[in-house]
Amino acid sequence: MNVGIDKINFFVPPYYVDMTDLAIARDVDPNKFLIGIGQEQMAVCPKSQDIVTFAANAAKQILTPEDLAAIEMVIVGTETSIDESKASAVVLHRLLGVQPFARSFEIKEACYGATAGLQLAKSHVLTHPNSKVLVIASDIAKYGLHSGGEPTQGAGAVAMLISRDPRILVLEDQNAMLTQDIYDFWRPIGHPHPTVNGPLSNATYIESFQKVWHYYQEKYQRSLADFDALAFHIPYTKMGKKALLSILESETESEQEKILKAYEESIIYSRKVGNLYTGSLYLGLISLLENATSLAAGNRIGLFSYGSGAVSEFFSGILVEGYDAFLQKEAHQQLLANRQKLSIAEYEAMFEDQLDINQSNTFEDDLPFSLVSVEETIRTYKQ
Ligand code: HMG
Repeated sequence: MNVGIDKINFFVPPYYVDMTDLAIARDVDPNKFLIGIGQEQMAVCPKSQDIVTFAANAAKQILTPEDLAAIEMVIVGTETSIDESKASAVVLHRLLGVQPFARSFEIKEACYGATAGLQLAKSHVLTHPNSKVLVIASDIAKYGLHSGGEPTQGAGAVAMLISRDPRILVLEDQNAMLTQDIYDFWRPIGHPHPTVNGPLSNATYIESFQKVWHYYQEKYQRSLADFDALAFHIPYTKMGKKALLSILESETESEQEKILKAYEESIIYSRKVGNLYTGSLYLGLISLLENATSLAAGNRIGLFSYGSGAVSEFFSGILVEGYDAFLQKEAHQQLLANRQKLSIAEYEAMFEDQLDINQSNTFEDDLPFSLVSVEETIRTYKQ
C-alpha cells in the first residue's frame, strides 16, 4: 500500500524585515546576509500569534469535512511550545474540528520533530488504512536582537495530511537515521532564546548529512543518479548548499547541474521567510514542488532532516501522477506578497513586545485564527 503526503500547505505571519535594512542597521555588509547567509527577508511574529495560530492557519485551508472525520492523530512537531505539559495539538484538534476519537500530541527534537511525526503517521496509516494523520511543524525561531543568529530567525508552520494513496508524494521505506549527543544548539527550560555554537552547528549539520547520505547509499545501493532532487532542512539557504556541495565533487557535471538547479528551486520560499525550525525542510519541499521546472510524476526526491542536538534522517519519496494539481502555488505567492514590510524600529519593537502570560491580555488581529485573549495563563483563540 502506498502512504504519503496527500496535502501540504504552509503559513507564515504577515510581517517581514528586509535583510538589507537589517544589515545596514547592524553595520554589516548587506552581501553577508544576502549572499553569505543567503537570506532576503525574514518573517516576524506579533504577540497576537503563536505556534497554534500558525498551525491552524496552515491546516484549515487544506482540510475537508471528510478529512476531519478520518484524522486519527494530530501530531505537532515544535521546539517553541507554548506549554511544558499540555500539547498544542490538543488545542489545534478542537480549533480545526477534528473528530473526537483521535490522539493529539507534540514531538520535540529541535528541527527534526516533524520528521519523527511524519514517520509515525506513515506507520499508523499502514496499519489503519482508512485513517488519515495530520502532521504539523510549527515554530518561532528567535535568537535575540544583535545576536549572531539574528539574521537566521523566522516563523511559520507547515501542515501535511498523511493518507494512503496520497496525491502528492509517496513516502518510500528506505530511511537512514543518526543520533549524536552534541551541544551545537539547545534551549534550557526557562530560557527565551536558544544557546548556539554557530560554527559547531554548521559543521555538525554538514557532517550529519554526509554520514546519513553515505549510510543510505551503502544500505540501499542507491546513488545520486537515483534522485531527481534533494530537499534540505534550511536554517538559512546557504547551509543546505554547503552540505550539498560537500558530496557533489565526485559526481558527473550533469548530475551536479540537475541537483543544484533543484536546490535553488527548493530555497525560493525560505529566502523570504528564514528559519521555520521544524517546518523548514517541508517549506523547502513545497518550494521545490511549486517552482521546479523539470520535475515529473515518478521522480524520486531525497529529504534531509536535521535537528540540533542532534538527530538527522535521510529519506525519500516518489512524486505522484498529477501532483501539481494539489499544490497551492498561487495562494502561497499571494501570502508572501501580501506581507507588510517592517522598518528596523518596528521589527525591534515587535520583537521586544513579548507576550506575558501572567498578565491579562486582549488582542485584535485580522487572521482567521489568532489569539483573542490571555487570562490566568490560559490562551483563547479566535475561531
Ligand atoms: P556569522 O559568524 O555571523 O557568519 O555566523 P560568518 O562569519 O560565518 O559568515 C557567514 C558567511 O557569510 C560566510 O560564508 C562568510 O564568508 C560570508 P561561508 O564561509 O560560510 O561560506 N560573508 C560574506 N559573503 C559575501 N559578502 C560579504 C560577506 N561577509 C561574510 N561581505 C551563523 C553565521 C549561521 C553561524 C549564525 O548566524 C548562527 O549562529 N545562526 C544560528 C545557527 C544556525 O543556523 N546553524 C545552522 C546549522 S544548525 C541547524 O540547522 C539547526 C537549527 O535549525 C536549530 C534546530 O535544529 O532546532 C539552527
